[in-house]
Amino acid sequence: MTACGLDFGTSNTTLGVRDGDAFRLLALDGVRTTLPTAVFFDFEADAVTIGQAAVDSYVSGVEGRLMRSIKSMLGTDLIDADTALRKGRISFRAVIGTFLDTVKTRAEAAHGAPLTDVVVGRPVHFVDGDPAGDAAAEETLGAIARAAGFREVSFQFEPIAAALDYEQQVPGEELALIADIGGGTSDFSVVRIGPERRGRPDRSGDILANDGIRVGGTDFDRDLSLATAMPELGHGSAMKRAGLLAPRSIYFDLATWSKINFLYTNKAMAELERFRRDSAVPDNIERLIGIVEHRQGHALAMAVERAKIALSDSDETRLAIDWGDGELALPVDVAGLNRATGALAGRIGDRIRSCLADAGVTPDRIDAVFLTGGSTLLPQVRAAILAEAPGARVVEGNIFGSVGLGLTVEAQRRYG
Ligand SMILES: Nc1ncnc2c1ncn2[C@@H]1O[C@H](COP(=O)(O)OP(=O)(O)OP(=O)(O)O)[C@@H](O)[C@H]1O
Ligand SMILES: [Mg+2]
Repeated sequence: MTACGLDFGTSNTTLGVRDGDAFRLLALDGVRTTLPTAVFFDFEADAVTIGQAAVDSYVSGVEGRLMRSIKSMLGTDLIDADTALRKGRISFRAVIGTFLDTVKTRAEAAHGAPLTDVVVGRPVHFVDGDPAGDAAAEETLGAIARAAGFREVSFQFEPIAAALDYEQQVPGEELALIADIGGGTSDFSVVRIGPERRGRPDRSGDILANDGIRVGGTDFDRDLSLATAMPELGHGSAMKRAGLLAPRSIYFDLATWSKINFLYTNKAMAELERFRRDSAVPDNIERLIGIVEHRQGHALAMAVERAKIALSDSDETRLAIDWGDGELALPVDVAGLNRATGALAGRIGDRIRSCLADAGVTPDRIDAVFLTGGSTLLPQVRAAILAEAPGARVVEGNIFGSVGLGLTVEAQRRYG
């Protein structure tokens, strides 16, 4: 009987257990502890794969359906929407179930014993300004975890989990701002931590505030795509009839990880054909049709994400757009990224300010800012966070592991 912590992330998933006096993440993807949250329905082998193998199968051109950003469906009406497979259809709820079933099986193989009780991480808000959606999301995720075979399932806020991981290493008492910027959400906590507080049974007095916003790396991908790649496919272009513009929703779906598959239907294809006839730039629409026809939507999203990541440490890069019968390498630079995504970074900063106000502390009272989550590697995001507590020490956590490790600490406290 083992308690574990599960960080089911929009982009990556980890699962940890106690190991003697320490906590450790289990190998979920070969030897890797970080498992891409990806599911591939392989139509050729009639099989389902998850993680890096899912991404690799798709990239290598195996016929099938890739699903990413499935966590984004929690708390929305789309959780029970379904996607066509070769035979039949599958709901997002069932896709998440398939993914977590496999995660549990792999984790138990790595651990060598059944995992019975789990603390699952959750963003402070799955959806913005919608308490009913938040409650529904947690309930759905809990039901899926129980269906996967966990006996006890409870939740902890992801930034509080990150704080518990950070607390393992602090030598003295401090007031910390925790910032966890992932693929789907940005989450913050203001917490009092310290070696003496670590073992206390009730920590609620140490949590001054939690807040979050549904902005993450996948939104940066979307806005970068809409500003750079999508115009090459006709986004924002004119139609033959004066005064009309290209329909925006097609481009939003293609630029949004969780919605790409919505374009792979006969109905969407018919709409695209009509659109080409009515467009003033049919050649660009031809590219769009090529991408949809060849199921290259995720490949394009991956190229955009790669460009975003490349711009975290170089000033310019090229974004490869391949529509089957042609390709182009679009130059993209940091200034372009920042223009496209500046509003998102601004919203992250604004939310931190209101979280500090909720906590009743002025920025100068914050001793340390603890950073975790892949999107804290974006210079613009990091600057937006640090501007809200300019005097604080900056501590970089385990970028992809702190939340999972902290959930494991919490699982020991609750069930160990
Ligand atoms: N070097 C980098 N520069 C910028 N962004 C990066 C970098 N490396 C990873 N990312 C982004 O980090 C995000 C994934 O981060 P992470 O794994 O922390 O998210 P997650 O935990 O799965 O999501 P969430 O917690 O929001 O559900 C992706 O959007 C990815 O593009
Ligand atoms: Mg995360």
